[in-house]
Amino acid sequence: MTSLAVHTTGDVAGTPLVLLHAFPLDSRMWEPVLPLLPGIPVVRVDAPGFGASPVREPGLEEFAHEVSTAVRGLGAERAVVVGLSMGGYVAMALAEVAPHLLAGLGLLSTKAGADAESARAARLTMADAADRGEHGLTAPMVEVLLGETTRLTRPTVHAQVQTWLAEAPFAGIAWAQRSMAHRPDRHEVLAALPTLPALVLRGVEDGLMSVADAADMAEALVVGVAQLDGVGHLAALEDPVAVAAAIGDLYARSVTG
Ligand code: MLT
Repeated sequence: MTSLAVHTTGDVAGTPLVLLHAFPLDSRMWEPVLPLLPGIPVVRVDAPGFGASPVREPGLEEFAHEVSTAVRGLGAERAVVVGLSMGGYVAMALAEVAPHLLAGLGLLSTKAGADAESARAARLTMADAADRGEHGLTAPMVEVLLGETTRLTRPTVHAQVQTWLAEAPFAGIAWAQRSMAHRPDRHEVLAALPTLPALVLRGVEDGLMSVADAADMAEALVVGVAQLDGVGHLAALEDPVAVAAAIGDLYARSVTG
């Protein structure tokens, strides 16, 4: 049993697709892609402190372990795990703590490297500010989370992300920043996985994760990098059609072996 909020679509007892969301959003982030994945059973999990999940002690590894337990609790032996940004960090933690769960792995807008010391310090500063209940901590992120094309031409997506950033919960912000600050480099974890279907995807306008970040993960997984034009960091919201097509292809490759 888990107290995490787990949202399921379809018969998830076979080989579900597990979708892990970015910071500081929740599993609603995946709603635009869901109708574009017909017939695929999906499990979405809210990270601790986000959506309907209660907060925990910080730790991406503990969360990953709990996701694995929750998926197995639904009757699934294996799953195709896809994470975007923070969700990708969790997927890589899952690859470490429960490699046998993985039937396929999708890493979107993310990186396997650890933080530089300055980035780690900034995360801990934001976590402390969230503990103090300071407002407006994540609102400025809209400029870096969305690509220029989206900011200029997709007003509905822009407005939605602004709303979610304004509503980001203090407990979730603090949990996520402390958890991400302490994540290790996981290139070797990826390289040590048995050969498996994989997807590495980034938006060309992503200002947070570089081409080199994606290329390093792709090299470890022995795949190419899928790059989406006109898309920034929150690829699943900015171009759900292209992201769903890439995830659907990964799922098909993973379940047909
Ligand atoms: C995210 O989109 O999940 C975050 O930008 C990841 C991070 O802060 O490293």
